[in-house]
Amino acid sequence: MKKIKIYSEITVYNDVTELPENIQKLMAQAVAIREMAYAPYSHFRVGAALMLENGIVVTGNNQENAAYPSGMCAERVAIWAAGSQYPDQKILQMAITARSENHKLDQPIPPCGACRQAIAEYEIKQDQNIEIYFMGEIGKVYKSDSLNDLLPLIFDSSNL
Ligand code: THU
Repeated sequence: MKKIKIYSEITVYNDVTELPENIQKLMAQAVAIREMAYAPYSHFRVGAALMLENGIVVTGNNQENAAYPSGMCAERVAIWAAGSQYPDQKILQMAITARSENHKLDQPIPPCGACRQAIAEYEIKQDQNIEIYFMGEIGKVYKSDSLNDLLPLIFDSSNL
C-alpha cells in the first residue's frame, strides 16, 4: 500500500484589474450575462463566457425551474451552447462570475462538480486545455490552466 499526492495549481489575482486585458473583457461579458440569469429561487446569479479560437464569445447563465433539479448551471448552458453551435471550434478560455442577491460574494465561486465533469468532456474532445477564470461579484479571481487542476482523477471515455 502507498499513498499518492495529486498536485493542482491555481493562479490567484487580487482583483479583475490584474487580469490580462482580453480576460478582463471576457469577464465583463460574463458579468453582463450573469445579470440576465433566471434565478428566481436561489437569487444566486451566475454568468459564464467562453472564448473560442475563432474569436467568437459564447455566453450562458443559470436557468432555474420550479421543479428545482430541472434547472441548469451557467457553465453548462454556455459550454453546451458552444458545443452545439460551434462543434469544431476549440474553447480557449472560460470566465465565470456569480452574484447573490442576499450577500456580497467576495470570494471566487468555483464551478460545481457536475459542471467540471461537463467541461472536462470538451477539454478532452478538443485535446487542448481550457483556461478557467472564476470569481464572485468582487475580489480575487482564481485561474486554473486546465480542468485537470479542478477535477483530478477525471472519469472519461478511456474508463469505459
Ligand atoms: N450554479 C451555477 O450556475 N453554477 C455552478 O457551478 C454552481 C451553481 C447555479 C445553479 C442554481 O441556479 C444556483 O446557482 C444556486 O445553486
